[in-house]
Amino acid sequence: MRSSQQKKCNGRAAYPGLFITFEGPEGSGKTTQCQHLAEWLQTKGQSVLITREPGGTPLAEAIRTLLLGHQPSSINQPEPREIITPACEAALVLAARAQHVSCTIIPALQKGRIVLCDRFFDSTLAYQGFGRGLNRKSLTQFNDFVTGGLTPTLTFLLDLPVKEGLQRRKASSHQNRMDQESLAFHERVRRGFSALARQDPRRWRTLDARQPPEPLAEEIINYIRPFIFKSLPGQTARATGGGL
Ligand SMILES: Nc1ncnc2c1ncn2[C@@H]1O[C@H](COP(=O)(O)OP(=O)(O)O)[C@@H](O)[C@H]1O
Ligand SMILES: [Mg+2]
Repeated sequence: MRSSQQKKCNGRAAYPGLFITFEGPEGSGKTTQCQHLAEWLQTKGQSVLITREPGGTPLAEAIRTLLLGHQPSSINQPEPREIITPACEAALVLAARAQHVSCTIIPALQKGRIVLCDRFFDSTLAYQGFGRGLNRKSLTQFNDFVTGGLTPTLTFLLDLPVKEGLQRRKASSHQNRMDQESLAFHERVRRGFSALARQDPRRWRTLDARQPPEPLAEEIINYIRPFIFKSLPGQTARATGGGL
């Protein structure tokens, strides 16, 4: 059913909307595929909200700037320069998520919209847990505290060799603090995502992100099409009227 995962939210009533996340290492094509799926869903008459983490509200976007732009070398301070700690990084990510879930995601789900989110809690487990070595159980508990246990119904993992993703990012001139991390860190993150996907195959769909964008987008649409339209009887007529 459309909201099966969302029903796990501490007994909260299921939302009529659908919550889908895109996960994967840097440069794996999450933003590209999120945008593509949003456009396709809109052509089928669906109400879609595209959002991202960290971010998704003005306050959460300000936290994103703090998190991803934090370059010790650019801060005017005497040596030794202050480096963000893994715990501070995790707390900021989770603070941003508290705002994002309450102010953006849940209101959209309550209105029955399809929410496409570029990264969510699995990135916290992959980056701060597998990557930085923070305790994953503690991260999960902290996450439940800020989200009330909201879990995506579907998560796409765009899996790509680390070097390939980082090369794409360099070529696109979109760089942030995470891109500067070691290859070993990015390898742990990638393995973390794969481990998470294996643990919950009903929620995750792993895609080979080495493919060009178009076949990848087609694979995502083919996967999601029956899922969305068959589980939404009220919207089937409108959707199938568009030539699905
Ligand atoms: N499937 C793909 N094959 C080759 N290049 C891609 C593909 N998907 C995205 N790109 C390019 O790689 C770069 C990173 O893509 P992006 O969607 O921003 O990745 P992410 O959001 O996962 O970091 C962009 O320049 C984008 O145009
Ligand atoms: Mg992106």
